[in-house]
Amino acid sequence: MDKIIHIGSDHGGFDLKGKLSAALTVKGYTVNDLGTFSEDSVDYPVFGKKVAEAVLKDGSFGIIICGTGIGISIAANRFKGIRAALCHCSEYAKLAREHNDANILALGGRFMDFKTAEEITDVFLKTEFLGGRHKRRVDLLDNI
Ligand code: RB5
Repeated sequence: MDKIIHIGSDHGGFDLKGKLSAALTVKGYTVNDLGTFSEDSVDYPVFGKKVAEAVLKDGSFGIIICGTGIGISIAANRFKGIRAALCHCSEYAKLAREHNDANILALGGRFMDFKTAEEITDVFLKTEFLGGRHKRRVDLLDNI
């Protein structure tokens, strides 16, 4: 997997995005920050779209964060080929990769401390898709 990570948030995820980006950079990832770049109120669909398009373009992973993670994941999942998973714990992140081949991790910046978000992100980025019966199901998603 490419070590580029596309990341984006609205104002509700701005603080967590900054902390997570710094930690990922220290770990050797190249972080492509697509905004937002201040705490001013913005619209989460804009940033879900930016990250979804970047992921579709180069096949890297993405991370999206809004207050709950809900709105921005809905936005990203409008794009065919995007499988954005809103994860609240590491086990969700593991299963989102193993079973769903999720290519975008969604987080709720107002409901998660940095340490938990970092653990979830590490698991997400290191877990491989299992394929097999899961591939058949993931393939069906693109034909809905
Ligand atoms: C913004 O106030 C908030 O609605 C947004 O961050 C997100 O939680 C939407 O799903």
